[in-house]
Amino acid sequence: MRDTAEIAVEKLTRKQADAELARLAAEIARHDRLYYQKDAPAISDAAYDALRRRNEAIEQRFPDLVRLDSPTRRVGAAPAQGFAKVTHLRPMLSLGNAFSAEDVRDFVAGVRRYLKLSADHAIELAAEPKIDGLSANLRYENGVFVQGATRGDGAVGEDITANLRTVADVPERLKGKDVPDLIEVRGEVYFARKDFARLNQEREKAGEPLFANPRNAAAGSTRQLDPAITARRPLRFFAYAWGEASALPADTHWHMVERFAAWGFKTNPLAKLCRDEDQALALHQKLQEQRAELDYDIDGVVYKVNRLDWQERLGFVSRAPRWAIAHKFPAEQAVTVLERIAIQVGRTGALTPVAELKPVTVGGVVVARATLHNEDEIQRKDIREGDHVVVQRAGDVIPQVVRVLEEKRLPKAKPYQFPDKCPVCGSRAVREDGEAVRRCTGGLTCPAQAVERLKHFVQRNAIDIDGLGGESIQELFDLGYLRSPADIYRLGRHRDRIVVDRKAKTGIEGWGDLRFGNLERAIEARRSVPLPRFIFALGIPQVGEATAKLLARNYGTLAAWRQAMQRAAKQDEEALAELDNIEGIGPSVAQDIVDFFAEPHNTRALDDLQREVTVEDFAAPSTAGSPVAGKTVVFTGTLETLGRNEAKARAEALGAKVASSVSKKTDYVIVGADAGSKATKARELGVTTLTEQEWLKLVGESG
Ligand code: IVH
Repeated sequence: MRDTAEIAVEKLTRKQADAELARLAAEIARHDRLYYQKDAPAISDAAYDALRRRNEAIEQRFPDLVRLDSPTRRVGAAPAQGFAKVTHLRPMLSLGNAFSAEDVRDFVAGVRRYLKLSADHAIELAAEPKIDGLSANLRYENGVFVQGATRGDGAVGEDITANLRTVADVPERLKGKDVPDLIEVRGEVYFARKDFARLNQEREKAGEPLFANPRNAAAGSTRQLDPAITARRPLRFFAYAWGEASALPADTHWHMVERFAAWGFKTNPLAKLCRDEDQALALHQKLQEQRAELDYDIDGVVYKVNRLDWQERLGFVSRAPRWAIAHKFPAEQAVTVLERIAIQVGRTGALTPVAELKPVTVGGVVVARATLHNEDEIQRKDIREGDHVVVQRAGDVIPQVVRVLEEKRLPKAKPYQFPDKCPVCGSRAVREDGEAVRRCTGGLTCPAQAVERLKHFVQRNAIDIDGLGGESIQELFDLGYLRSPADIYRLGRHRDRIVVDRKAKTGIEGWGDLRFGNLERAIEARRSVPLPRFIFALGIPQVGEATAKLLARNYGTLAAWRQAMQRAAKQDEEALAELDNIEGIGPSVAQDIVDFFAEPHNTRALDDLQREVTVEDFAAPSTAGSPVAGKTVVFTGTLETLGRNEAKARAEALGAKVASSVSKKTDYVIVGADAGSKATKARELGVTTLTEQEWLKLVGESG
């Protein structure tokens, strides 16, 4: 067999895809270890990114082959730098799966056999909804929350204490008298559906990539380096298990969970203590019917042998307990007719195919549209207009078209031809090599893109122009008064044609003197804008508020940033390296920024805009007299006093730029314990290295 690594994603057979996903999971995990633990990357960022992209593409083609240890499941983004490792005192296990009532009966029979109980001996089971979130271990010493960790690989997780402290359902102190001196409470960190929907709406507005499902949102939110970001995400927590404990206050699982509730934890109200497996199966049936109406996604029911002495005797096989099993729900599917394939054009010009379906109920929810991802997906599944298709709502909120029922296809159905013209403006729509999406080349002349970009430009977190909502923008655009952001500032010139004059019979219905006057004032108030808002307002793909701020901090002024980006767009090595080197800006984001500047119509729009607005230089807060203001610093190794995140945050507060790798431009490298290649590189380049103590002294924070 050919080496699977060499086969194009579209050509992989199922079997090859499975093998390739296994290879990629191991390979990416190895590079993560080299990079994050050993500080010694073996491949370039670009090569690493290519591995992740390949993994994602294969998973998109074969969603049912996604591995439990998949790199996309692990984080949702590249593993963040800087969380300390936590070795679990007791490993955090996973669960075996049951897919049918028969599997469940086999499980219970196995328990009986193992415990040498007679065949009619009932086994009491605690049954709990299985939420697809992220498990966490919360350590309490003398009733006080001291450490929170992710599951990680089960043996070693990450210290996310600061983030978990922001979760309202995680008590800081346990209530009650029977709290053991030491207890690790385990449970699920998750997103409620409505909170998830709101988060994605906000991200869409901000031009940030959307989370595919609540689980990814929970994972992404708990692994934020800045706990302030986690604090703004309404994460929730249900307690359902425990790890190390100095004493156990109960002898059944059910009573343990009751103690958790008494101590102040949220526990799942739908859990039920079942006399035997028949009751447990009845609960499974009931929850399967209710699942669509629940506030959160569940993907099954977990059954646990209730008696702890039995749990103890049963023990574990490989990484799962013999005393518990997850009874999964079948994926929610339905058959319907795909009436039409519609093409949406987004702010960045991406043409996205959407299936318009004859409305059908899938798991209690009416579905009328489903994502088709992209051109290749339609071709691979050979989806045609008029086909009968299987639609699925998995954990993901956006329904998907799983496959076509070919036997029901009408003879006249023709293979779908993806448009090579933008359906909105008629410009050519092209696909770059290696890209999955086709994009409209119309840029700001394309109404779809222009209107979306204008909406983005004026929104509250960007330039923030009051009184210019989506409908007004669409109206003024349709009438030709608005084309690009700079036009907003020139609206005043069209006053006579916009404001209603009853006598002269001119103007646009609804635009009175007062409304226009208010709008003009709101616009004038925004002739001067802070650099981070300005950068964000440009709507560069993947450049959300946080990235805009990083750019503003690093370059300081619009002129400096533009100059650097224009050089980067011409492939100037130094400018590219500086951009790549900003901590928090990954290669794919950097590429999008460079691409933006490589487009002449973007630079023209920017020139035009600069004639209308003044962009305020980025003022780092109160760094006057800071010894490190404007200096570029790199932290490496384990920092003992502060921890990496805190050190980084403080350095930035003092006006320093924190970079991710060492170059000639680095001023200081702060070398912690077990530092690797970055420290060596600093010495090679003659960059000043400081110990953690020396750094603290420099910034005036040492004793
Ligand atoms: S018990 C030793 N109970 O499912 C038992 N897990 O597939 C360890 N999960 O990692 C887990 N709800 O993230 C347990 N009521 C529940 C659960 C639950 C969700 C998740 C958890 C775990 C995964 C195992």
